[in-house]
Amino acid sequence: MGLEGAVDEVFLLGDVKRGKGWEQCIDAVNREFPNWGKLLRGGMSITRDQLPERLLLKWREQFFDNFPLDVNKEGGSRALEVLGSGGVSVVYLFSDENECKYAVGVSKESFDKGEEAKKNAKYLQDDYRVVKELFGGIEGLIPNESHLVFADNKGRLRVMFIREFVSGPFRDIFRISEDELKKLITLNPTLSSQLEQFVQILDDNSELVKEVPPLDLLGKDNLCVKGEGKSARLVLLDPHKMKMRLNFNVDEVTRKMRSKVEYLKVALKK
Ligand SMILES: Nc1ncnc2c1ncn2[C@@H]1O[C@H](COP(=O)(O)OP(=O)(O)O)[C@@H](O)[C@H]1O
Ligand SMILES: [Mg+2]
Repeated sequence: MGLEGAVDEVFLLGDVKRGKGWEQCIDAVNREFPNWGKLLRGGMSITRDQLPERLLLKWREQFFDNFPLDVNKEGGSRALEVLGSGGVSVVYLFSDENECKYAVGVSKESFDKGEEAKKNAKYLQDDYRVVKELFGGIEGLIPNESHLVFADNKGRLRVMFIREFVSGPFRDIFRISEDELKKLITLNPTLSSQLEQFVQILDDNSELVKEVPPLDLLGKDNLCVKGEGKSARLVLLDPHKMKMRLNFNVDEVTRKMRSKVEYLKVALKK
C-alpha cells in the first residue's frame, strides 16, 4: 500500500487506537530492521489525535457519501462508531430506522477496476458461504453477512461487508487463560456444547486447520466469547478463511492453527 493508502487508513477510515501512536512508533523502531510503514502510521496517528473531533467526523461522513443503505445519522455521522479493525477491514456501527444495528466493514484495500473489486467481493462471499455451511448449525456462532462493492467519496472501489451486529463485551477465546476457560465450560453447558461441535467440525474437515488458507483463528478477536458466566456464548466474529500474504510462512501458519485447536481441546477435557 502506498502513502496515499496509509493516509486514508489513518485519517479517513480512522483505523487507529487513540493515544497509541507513540507506542506504535517505538515498536516500529525497536527492532532489528525498523518498520518504516508502521513508524509513518504511528506518526500520523499522533497528528490525528491532535485534530478536533468534528473534523474527523466530517471526513468520516464524507467518506460514506455513497453509502448504499438508508441509515440513521446521529451526532453528525452515519457511522456511529468504529467497532474495531483487522488485517482486512475497518468495521463501523450503523443503525437503521428500526434501531436495527449492523457492523459494516470497509476494506482497507481499494481497487481501480470494477472487475477486480467484484472478484474480491465474490471471493469473500463464497468464502463466507463455506464457513456458514460448515458451522451454521451451531446456534449463535456465525453472524449473517453479505458483501458488496462500494465507491468511497473519491470514487475508489472498496469491498464492504454488512454483518449482523454482535453486542459485546467479547473476549478473544485464546486470550482467556486455560483455567478460566475450563471453569466457564464447566459452568455453562451451552458454551461447552458450542465448543465441542466447533472442534468436531474442525476434526471432520481437517483441511481447515492443516491446509492453506486455513479458517482464520489467528486474527485477534476472531473467535470470541461473548458475555460472562452462564450467559457466555461462542461467536466466530470473523467467519472467514485467512487472507494469506506473500510473506507468510505456511508451516508457521499451520503450526499456529494446530496449537489453537489443541488449546480448545485441552480446555474441553474433563
Ligand atoms: N458483527 C460485529 N459486531 C461487533 N463488532 C464487530 C463485528 N464484526 C467485527 N467487529 C469488530 O471489528 C473487528 C475487526 O473485524 P474482522 O471481521 O475481524 O476484520 P478483518 O476481516 O479485517 O480481520 C473485530 O475484531 C471486532 O472488534
Ligand atoms: Mg479478523
